[in-house]
Amino acid sequence: MSTHGEQRRLTAPDIRARKGGEPIVALTSYHAHTARLLDKHCDVILVGDSLGMVMHGLETTLPVTLDMMILQGRAVMRGSQHALVVVDMPFGSYEASKEQAFMSAARVLKETGCGAIKVEGGRRMAETIAFLVERGVPVMAHVGLTPQAINSLGGFRAQGRDPADWGPFEEDARAVAAAGAFSVVLEAMAEPLAARLTREIAISAACDGQILVLEDMLGLSARVPKFVKRYTDLGPSIDKAVADYAREVRSRAFPTAEHVYPLKKTV
Ligand code: KIV
Repeated sequence: MSTHGEQRRLTAPDIRARKGGEPIVALTSYHAHTARLLDKHCDVILVGDSLGMVMHGLETTLPVTLDMMILQGRAVMRGSQHALVVVDMPFGSYEASKEQAFMSAARVLKETGCGAIKVEGGRRMAETIAFLVERGVPVMAHVGLTPQAINSLGGFRAQGRDPADWGPFEEDARAVAAAGAFSVVLEAMAEPLAARLTREIAISAACDGQILVLEDMLGLSARVPKFVKRYTDLGPSIDKAVADYAREVRSRAFPTAEHVYPLKKTV
């Protein structure tokens, strides 16, 4: 229980209540140290299953496991105090049945202490979302480009660029909102469709805020989608720092007296 004067961590209902208000700031984090840096600026920190591609160099998010998500979810919770931490449910941990989804979500909430989970899928996940929400699991939904369905989608492509294709996306967004999701990520969706869905559904959607993968906006990812703005380019700075270190170690210029421990004066 929080004591007087402590800053309270944001909750799913707080984010839900931001619909139409101040835009929601969200970024991904997978570690305690980046979570600490993000926490004072972000409303939501997502422990995305993109960690499989970003941290582990996998081609897709499909091999990511529940244990991987829980390990990094715990790290992000340790590093943050203010933001709502949402942990992604990885492929294969929730689709088989609503009971499977509940068991996996319960592990995530118990073992990380996070405030919500995220699942990919629209209408096909609506019954599961309702089941989870009724049992006290706040759910962020995710429609549009759903990377866990990459083998069916055929590639990481923008969605809904032809208005003739909008029907299923609208049905998906309405279904997850009606099922009780507190928010929905609209990934890589044509802007007019995303704007329309944000207007139409009562829960917070992408256009009530923005979410990016941290490493993408820091310039650490080799290739980024069009929707990413690189706010800095840390890659060359890290490269230079590591090259300087390697050169100094090889030439014995590092360490110097200021970096080593002398003996105690009494010895
Ligand atoms: O896994 C992830 O990082 C995500 C965001 C891109 C929304 O799902």
